Amino acid sequence: MLRVQDLEVKYGDFQVLWGVSLEVHQGEIVCLLGPNGAGKSTIINALSGLVKPLAGRVEFCGERIDGLPTHQIVTRGISHVLERRRVFPYLTVEKNLLLGSYQDRARPRREESLAWVFSLFPVLRERRHQLAQSLSGGEQQMLAIGRGLMSRPKFLMIDEPFLGLSPLVVTEILEIITQINTAGVTVLFIEQNVQLALGISHRGYVLESGRMVVSGAAKEVLESDLVRKVYLGI
Ligand SMILES: Nc1ncnc2c1ncn2[C@@H]1O[C@H](COP(=O)(O)OP(=O)(O)OP(=O)(O)O)[C@@H](O)[C@H]1O
Ligand SMILES: [Mg+2]
Repeated sequence: MLRVQDLEVKYGDFQVLWGVSLEVHQGEIVCLLGPNGAGKSTIINALSGLVKPLAGRVEFCGERIDGLPTHQIVTRGISHVLERRRVFPYLTVEKNLLLGSYQDRARPRREESLAWVFSLFPVLRERRHQLAQSLSGGEQQMLAIGRGLMSRPKFLMIDEPFLGLSPLVVTEILEIITQINTAGVTVLFIEQNVQLALGISHRGYVLESGRMVVSGAAKEVLESDLVRKVYLGI
């Protein structure tokens, strides 16, 4: 579904991605792991058109998408839930969600999409008339993911969905990501906790200092020397 080849990104004179390649197949959950500053967010920002690559190629469903503006990438069925759950604090939960479905492809289905998101996250239905700023961190993350789903993506990218959340909420969101995937949405997400991420993923990639250093089936990545030594300390 997604093929990234030799992606390079520079911020000014500072190069952060070096020849990064990755693939995500239809129906998969894939995680992108790596330490702070490795360039994980930069990769998915480049995939959604927020950052312009210096070099490389991105294909989605057989079509080249690098260089397209973000709205055209969304139209093709890619949705990006940004790092630190950026919701609109002074809009209600429902308005935040509806903003995710403003595009032509999604607008006619927005009532149905809203019902789908509320079925995944019942707490958002209860809080639909509340301002987003009054939600807890976990609820705001649910809202951010819910908004991402309102564009009816084929491919959902989530940047650190579990950041700063309690174990109970993490478990809840893990289950929902699996449900979203079962409903036919392919998922690529970023996470720093290797065991947690690989627990729900089919495959994983590890990025270090802008280079992909390990990739493979979840079990292979978990059992790789680098991950065992550096991330698990065993
Ligand atoms: N807009 C920008 N301008 C300049 N440098 C940037 C910009 N965005 C990111 N960087 C730098 O690029 C590098 C990679 O950043 P990126 O946010 O992609 O890392 P990350 O792996 O997502 O890290 P984290 O786990 O902390 O979110 C960092 O050194 C960061 O300071
Ligand atoms: Mg990041």
